[in-house]
Amino acid sequence: MPPATVEIRHTPEQAAEALRADALTGLTSMPKWLPPKWFYDARGSELFEDITRLPEYYPARAEREILAERAPELATVTRPGALVELGSGSSVKTRLLLDAFSANGPPDGPTEGGTSVAPSGTPSGTLREFFPLDVSEQALREAAHAIAETYPALRVHGVVDDFTSSLAVPDGSRPRLVAFLGGTIGNLLPDERAKFLTSLRDALDGGEWLLLGTDLVKDPDTLVRAYADSQGVTGEFNRNVLHVLNAELGADFVPEAFTHRAVWDERQEWIEMRLRADRDMRVTLPGIGLEINFTEGEEMRTEVSTKFRREHVASELATAGFELHSWWTDAAGRFALSLARATP
Ligand code: SAH
Ligand code: TRP
Repeated sequence: MPPATVEIRHTPEQAAEALRADALTGLTSMPKWLPPKWFYDARGSELFEDITRLPEYYPARAEREILAERAPELATVTRPGALVELGSGSSVKTRLLLDAFSANGPPDGPTEGGTSVAPSGTPSGTLREFFPLDVSEQALREAAHAIAETYPALRVHGVVDDFTSSLAVPDGSRPRLVAFLGGTIGNLLPDERAKFLTSLRDALDGGEWLLLGTDLVKDPDTLVRAYADSQGVTGEFNRNVLHVLNAELGADFVPEAFTHRAVWDERQEWIEMRLRADRDMRVTLPGIGLEINFTEGEEMRTEVSTKFRREHVASELATAGFELHSWWTDAAGRFALSLARATP
């Protein structure tokens, strides 16, 4: 196999335009807010990898535990021709899936009337393609090349795209399994989430698969500590969005003058990440012709991270046209992986 290929569906020009629109909307709102996808420039993606190694950030380890335990079963049940990973980042945990799929047993032979449409000569149940998809181009390139090196028989094709705009699922061998890990779905607001799940379902054929990682509701202390670590890495990550605005819009934010905050919202059942202005400030954003003021103590929302319950996940999936096939949690019940199937 040649090394990984990467396709740019969301160009830097489109990203710049989207950033200008988001910054204009969010920074002129009361209270101010910014969408979370702008954390992830090259430095943001690296900081996120550091977060996954923090002792307080249990979701990454809990999800890894479930993947390690369930990957063989998942491989047998789904037998995908292609694995698509949304918001793939470093795709480190995904290797557990790739290992299990490569170990899939001998071919079934041709299936009559089944969902397998793999080209003739290719047995169903053999994973042929891996499509990581992410907005963060550098992280995506690195991950795609590293995976291609480890799995030489696999076609690895990375896609730089924004899964919240128009979601086009790469057209690979059927059936496809779409993995959306890391609890990233929780970073979408409820209406964005509903729209996302529906467009994902529409992009799939009946019988294709979704593997969805969701963090679960638990005691607020544990939750807040996962988003406000003692080493301050999450704070650096949070402030990175200001560095992105400075770089892309010529803005003059002083990131050090903002304090990282993580707040549990009990009613919405989400962690809200905020940046609090330490003093009165005036910020100029030449890229969008905007000047804004912050008053001391003013808080700007940069992300929500929704925590889920089983019924909540099952009903949102059902509304979008997915049937929950399996619900797996880690032994401590902190995080869940849902395996769902697109209903015909
Ligand atoms: N799946 C990895 C990374 C999770 S971090 C893991 O579980 O560890 C969230 C990832 O989603 C980042 O790599 C970020 O760049 C990507 N991302 C965030 N918003 C996105 C969007 N709108 N479209 C595509 N990718 C997005
Ligand atoms: N999807 C991750 C989550 O909600 C993203 C994330 C983890 C994150 N830690 C963060 C985002 C800290 C901002 C700040 O858990």
